[in-house]
Amino acid sequence: MTSTAKAHTNIAFIKYWGKKNQQLNLPTTSSLSLTLDKFYTKTTVTIDDTLSTDVLYLNNQKVDATRVHQFLDVLRDELGYFPTLKINSYNHVPTSAGLASSASAFAALTGAVVQELGLHLDTCTLSRLARRGSGSASRSFFGHFAVWHAGIDNDSSFAESLHAPAMPIALVVAEVSSQQKKVGSTEGMQRALTSPDYGNWVNNSQQQFIDMQSAVMAADIEKIGTIAEANAMSMHDLNLTATQHPFTYFTAETQRILQIVDDLKHQGLLAFATMDAGPNVKIITHVEHAQLIIQTLNNALPNLKLEIAQSGPDISYE
Ligand code: DP6
Repeated sequence: MTSTAKAHTNIAFIKYWGKKNQQLNLPTTSSLSLTLDKFYTKTTVTIDDTLSTDVLYLNNQKVDATRVHQFLDVLRDELGYFPTLKINSYNHVPTSAGLASSASAFAALTGAVVQELGLHLDTCTLSRLARRGSGSASRSFFGHFAVWHAGIDNDSSFAESLHAPAMPIALVVAEVSSQQKKVGSTEGMQRALTSPDYGNWVNNSQQQFIDMQSAVMAADIEKIGTIAEANAMSMHDLNLTATQHPFTYFTAETQRILQIVDDLKHQGLLAFATMDAGPNVKIITHVEHAQLIIQTLNNALPNLKLEIAQSGPDISYE
């Protein structure tokens, strides 16, 4: 038997940036995201007890992924023993787009394994399991907008759909080339926790999470963008003010794009920036403004790679 799941990546409008429990991936704050149509991971899982260990192929190449092996140990712990697996995963998240593929990858893997084992688990349980692989994966089971409740323990920390109304929201992804050494999200958020501003950030984020839910339910793109930008920029301030190994994901090109986004905003366009664990800028806008944003960025920075994404679907199975 073989089972295939396809999960789309998501972009957080209220960020997850800090863990209160490293081993369980319990976040310090609840987060909220939009699932994207363009970028996804498709994963096929086959039980193969002739194998001595689980094997993983990523885009047809055999890889030795410690993180996946650790995650399968967690699944065996949670779901009970299962035989060795052959896993084939295809990433349709161009690493170049600067979007985290771990979200769609761990969501698709969880969905495919559970299907292959013939288990019927509700999506919130799947979300709770995928969280252990990568926190942001908990949100990648749900189309459109999802909320991940921080929770207080392993059982209470999972994501669910916001059941938000349809809206003409779009995301322009601007890929910045970067020579600087990468700080992964797990490492970056550990450093951010040492910022004296961290407690304040948690408090503000709680209010922003509430305000963002109202904005999403009202399909108010301007309000969504305003809150998302404030939340993202304050997340990046934590990295700068960390007392242990302060750092930044911003490059000169990032700052140039942020300046252009600001100019566009002052010209009356809906354009709001958000950024994750890298120098790329994602611009939240109205679908009708997306082309103009692309043209403006293209004129100013001709080498920039640009993509437009819109709201994406739930996880699906074959
Ligand atoms: C900035 O989910 O990649 O994208 O749980 O350590 O795997 P781990 O972290 P990860 O962190 C994502 C951080 C972020 C914000 C977000 O997606 O909420």
